[in-house]
Amino acid sequence: MNNIEQTLSIIKPDAVERNLDNEIKEIFKNKGFSILREKKIQIEKSEAEKFYKVHETKPFYNDLCSYLSSGPIVVMILEKNNAVLENRALMGSTNPKEAEEGTIRKKYGLSIDKNSVHGSDSIENAKIEIDFFFRD
Ligand code: CMP
Repeated sequence: MNNIEQTLSIIKPDAVERNLDNEIKEIFKNKGFSILREKKIQIEKSEAEKFYKVHETKPFYNDLCSYLSSGPIVVMILEKNNAVLENRALMGSTNPKEAEEGTIRKKYGLSIDKNSVHGSDSIENAKIEIDFFFRD
């Protein structure tokens, strides 16, 4: 069934720093995702705090926001059938140590913080996150 969705993907500082962004983009394309828009940016910590607001009560919130703003990231709008779930499956578990073989986090992730990629966790959040980075 046709169920085209869009989701937000971020290639995080640890992966961009290791020049893995093009390799990771190829993985998405080879799995049938279209990259509708993309940009390489570095955000302020205050912007990271807004982006990750849903985690603001978590003990790791401060470190998470410092980390996301610590270096360049690549933000992308990905499109595919069932893009939200498909992207989450391709990324693998949040903790790379628990990520399944063949997933991006298993292959490239260094730790639960430096887990190389972020992806929206629901269709509703995908809309919010796409709007956050691509308002225009
Ligand atoms: P991400 O998918 O970007 O969403 C929130 C991020 O918080 C997550 O990936 C992890 O990199 C980071 N994080 C750090 N500690 C934890 C934790 N204990 N549980 C979940 N996420 C964590």
